[in-house]
Amino acid sequence: MKKRYEGKTKDVYELEDGNFLLKFKDDVTGEDGVFDPGANTVGLTIEGAGRAGLKVTTLFFEKLKERNIPTHYIASDLENTTMTVVPATVFGEGLEVICRYRAVGSFLRRYGKYAEEGQALDSFVEVTLKDDERGDPPISKDALEMLGILTSEEYETLKKLTIDISEVVKEELAKKDIELYDIKLEFGRDKAGDILLIDEISGGNMRAYRKGEYIEPLELEKILTAE
Ligand SMILES: Nc1ncnc2c1ncn2[C@@H]1O[C@H](COP(=O)(O)OP(=O)(O)OP(=O)(O)O)[C@@H](O)[C@H]1O
Ligand SMILES: [Mg+2]
Repeated sequence: MKKRYEGKTKDVYELEDGNFLLKFKDDVTGEDGVFDPGANTVGLTIEGAGRAGLKVTTLFFEKLKERNIPTHYIASDLENTTMTVVPATVFGEGLEVICRYRAVGSFLRRYGKYAEEGQALDSFVEVTLKDDERGDPPISKDALEMLGILTSEEYETLKKLTIDISEVVKEELAKKDIELYDIKLEFGRDKAGDILLIDEISGGNMRAYRKGEYIEPLELEKILTAE
C-alpha cells in the first residue's frame, strides 16, 4: 500500500487494485488547542474523532448510494477507521462547494450589509478555491471557466449535485429535529471524466442548529450516529 498524500485529518493510500484508501485520523483542525472545523491547521488530537467522522460519512454516503447519486464511496471499515474509495482527480488544486440554507459564517461576513444573521437562503450554492495561503477565496462561475478549472457544463452539474446531496443531509438532520444551515462538499472527476462527490461528510463539514442553538461537530456526530 502506497501513501499518496498526508492530509490534515486523513491520509490517502493507493491500493493494489488502483482504488484509494482514506485513513481517518484523530487529528482535528483548530487553533491553540480549540477545535475549529474551518481552520487550516491541525490544532489538536481527540480520541475517537476519526471513527466518529467515518461513521457519519458512511451513513450519508450509504443514503446517497440508495438515491443513485454518484460518489467515490465503495466500503468502510470502522475497525480500522478506513474508507475504500474510487480515485478521483480534483478540479484545479481542489474546490469546495457550499450550499447555504441560512445566512451565517463567511456569507454573513461578506454580505452583512444586505443580509441579516440567520436569514433564510434558498439552497444557495457557492464555490471556493482550496487555497490555504489565500484563505480559500470564493470564485464565480465565469472565473472558474476563464481560468480553465472547470467547464460551464461541469459547473451546472456540480451545482445540481450539491443541491441534491445537501437536501439528503438536510432531511437526515431534520429527522432529529436539527436544522442544517450550511454544508461544504468536495467533488472530483473519475477515470471516465464523470463528476463524483469525494472526501467526507462529517460534522465538521456543516453547521447545524437545534432551536436556534449551534451544535458542535462532535456533538452533532454523536446525535446522528445514536441508535
Ligand atoms: N476519491 C478521492 N480521490 C482523490 N483524492 C481524494 C478523494 N477523496 C478525498 N480526496 C482528497 O484526500 C485528501 C484528504 O485529506 P484531508 O481531509 O486531511 O485534507 P486536507 O487537504 O489536508 O485538508 P482540508 O480538509 O482543508 O482539505 C483531500 O485533499 C481530499 O481532497
Ligand atoms: Mg479535508
